[in-house]
Amino acid sequence: MVQIVKTIQQVRETVKAWKKAGLQVGLVPTMGYLHEGHQSLMAQAKAENDRVVTSIFVNPMQFGPTEDLASYPRDLDKDSLLCQQVGVDLIFHPEAEEMYSANFCSFVDMTGLTEELCGRSRPIHFRGVCTVVSKLFNIVQPDRAYFGQKDAQQLAVIRQMVNDLNINVQVVGCPIIREHDGLAKSSRNSYLDAEQRQAALCLYRAIQLGRKLMQQGEKQCAVIISQMENCILQEPMAKIDYISIVDASKLTPVERIDAPVLCAMAIYIGKTRLIDNFVFDL
Ligand code: PAJ
Repeated sequence: MVQIVKTIQQVRETVKAWKKAGLQVGLVPTMGYLHEGHQSLMAQAKAENDRVVTSIFVNPMQFGPTEDLASYPRDLDKDSLLCQQVGVDLIFHPEAEEMYSANFCSFVDMTGLTEELCGRSRPIHFRGVCTVVSKLFNIVQPDRAYFGQKDAQQLAVIRQMVNDLNINVQVVGCPIIREHDGLAKSSRNSYLDAEQRQAALCLYRAIQLGRKLMQQGEKQCAVIISQMENCILQEPMAKIDYISIVDASKLTPVERIDAPVLCAMAIYIGKTRLIDNFVFDL
């Protein structure tokens, strides 16, 4: 069985022994309730490193007061099986108190990139993500860390943080893994009932439409966004949080497509907030 540890000290001791033996270490940070999207990151980490650490920690700091922290799905037994399948060597599964002592008061706060897209409706989210990920980097000190393109803004934010703070980790971005019908795999898909699950397909339909319009040469972002909005609005159960087209690296809104762009969206299906995106490279 894959080893599960709960303390920072245990992680440090294990990784120290690996490093002493000259082994390279990959880290895959997660919040658990794992699926094939997470597994693809772990498999890539395994292929590129001698040892792989996965963290499973539902990080309270990145949830807003009205968000789903309490109901976020958890299943450590299944998670450890999925980790085992892809050769993860160590699971770090701390309690919140292990990560945040009672007098915790230091944060990693980023401006700019964190204010667009999901940052608008989740104002404290990326501060929580940056803080916990930098803690995980300090605890594990991996050679490489793996993040999914599914959370495109998160990946851009982590890259920026690593660059700005001179963190000695190579950040590796991994492609979006989808269900057979196109819905991006997500732990939050488990909130959807059968009818909502069907309704959620409108995200992928909008993604495909947006990509097709760009491929056909449409340059006006307003035109593309409004067609994607119409596509989503065909689905009565869906409510748009945002659909945006931004510069692929700076994440600032663009009006015309003259350089690579990220087209990203967040859609509510009932109470469940789902995100999806694609990158269009000219
Ligand atoms: P979580 O949502 O569990 O995702 C963990 C990692 O898996 C992220 O890098 C995410 O982008 C990736 N991932 C999720 N679904 C994916 C899919 N369908 N295809 C490819 N990759 C996918 O993201 C977080 O946790 C947290 O914010 C975390 C970084 C762990 C910090 O708490």
